[in-house]
Amino acid sequence: MDRQVRQEFHKLFYVSANLTPTTKFYYMTLRELTQAKHDIADKLPFLNDVFEKKVTKERYLNYLVQMESVYRTLERKANEYGILKNFPGIERTNRIEEDMLELTEEVSASFSLFEETKVYCDYLNNLSDPKKIMAHVYVRHMGDLFGGQTLKNRVPGLARWFQFDNTRELIMKIRTVATPDLADEANVAFDYSINILRKLS
Ligand code: HEM
Repeated sequence: MDRQVRQEFHKLFYVSANLTPTTKFYYMTLRELTQAKHDIADKLPFLNDVFEKKVTKERYLNYLVQMESVYRTLERKANEYGILKNFPGIERTNRIEEDMLELTEEVSASFSLFEETKVYCDYLNNLSDPKKIMAHVYVRHMGDLFGGQTLKNRVPGLARWFQFDNTRELIMKIRTVATPDLADEANVAFDYSINILRKLS
């Protein structure tokens, strides 16, 4: 079902069944409950420029520097709670580092962390609820498994970050735990990512 048909279906279904917002929550998928934020994210100028192959090596390296810090923090935290052992092959930190090294050899610029990146890493470091941590893994890693596949041939360098050996298996495994009750925290994760992406515009 494409997005418009799905939205029509929901409108008809919820209105005709007279469901309250709380009831509705249980009938919506996590993807639907985070769709509004995704729509904001995938229209941001930086990603648009990536899409149109307009991003320079310098600008992309800056993005990798920010993301390396986010993924290192998130994956360390997720491993602390044994979350990633359920998803073999999902970890991205080393791959982002390899992409960074590749571009560092080609450009002379160096980049430091944005305030927005530090704030997100601090937030992740303070999380202690495995469900909330999983919500961030969902947003970041599902984004790589879907949108990343569209972007991987459009970014500078070899884009090891977006290469997975077992894309379908990982998507299926994440789906089993990506339940609608993660929505609030997943929307928080989108907000942090959006703030970083805005800085790159
Ligand atoms: C140009 C950038 C992007 C493109 C083209 C893109 C595209 C897509 C597509 C086609 C899907 C499949 C889901 C569907 O059927 O609607 C998807 C899913 C997803 N994307 Fe993106 N995306 C982009 C950016 C992002 C960003 C920046 C994030 C997070 C910060 C993100 C997070 C996600 C997540 C979590 C899903 C999984 C939704 C689900 O549960 O099925 N995406 N993306």
